[in-house]
Amino acid sequence: MKIDRRKFIQRILVAAAAIEAIFLIKGSVSKTSTSRKKTNLFNAGKADSFENNKLYPFLTGQFFLKRYEDGGFLAMSIKCTHLGCVVNTNAKTGGFNCPCHASQFNKFGEVLAAPATRPLDTFPITIENGELFIDTSKPTRRTSFNKSQLTYA
Ligand code: FES
Repeated sequence: MKIDRRKFIQRILVAAAAIEAIFLIKGSVSKTSTSRKKTNLFNAGKADSFENNKLYPFLTGQFFLKRYEDGGFLAMSIKCTHLGCVVNTNAKTGGFNCPCHASQFNKFGEVLAAPATRPLDTFPITIENGELFIDTSKPTRRTSFNKSQLTYA
């Protein structure tokens, strides 16, 4: 069988285009899933590196990570639920004070003093291979604290 030069070149170009298309599709799919993971999940580090009954601020992630007396973790937003100011920690109470209009929150993020009317929002925590991942794209509103909000290693 004899193929002329023009048909041979056409077939080579079609084959090259098909291969490139496969790589482009494969690349865009894997980039999407990788970038989604990176943008949504904040790696806070190894769970066993956090001591019980301590608060760890992650200001770049915009959350406080609290490990309570029983080892449970809670990731709370640093933003006041009144108008969104960044709250300060209160070393005396273990809670938080808002510098803008004086709202106060306890160590579980519940309101102690208005004008805020609801607790600090929380973020979902997952643990993979002993490391904590906080999904900062999913703030969760709540009306009070309960133990089901805690995550255990
Ligand atoms: S923004 Fe915090 S009390 Fe107003």
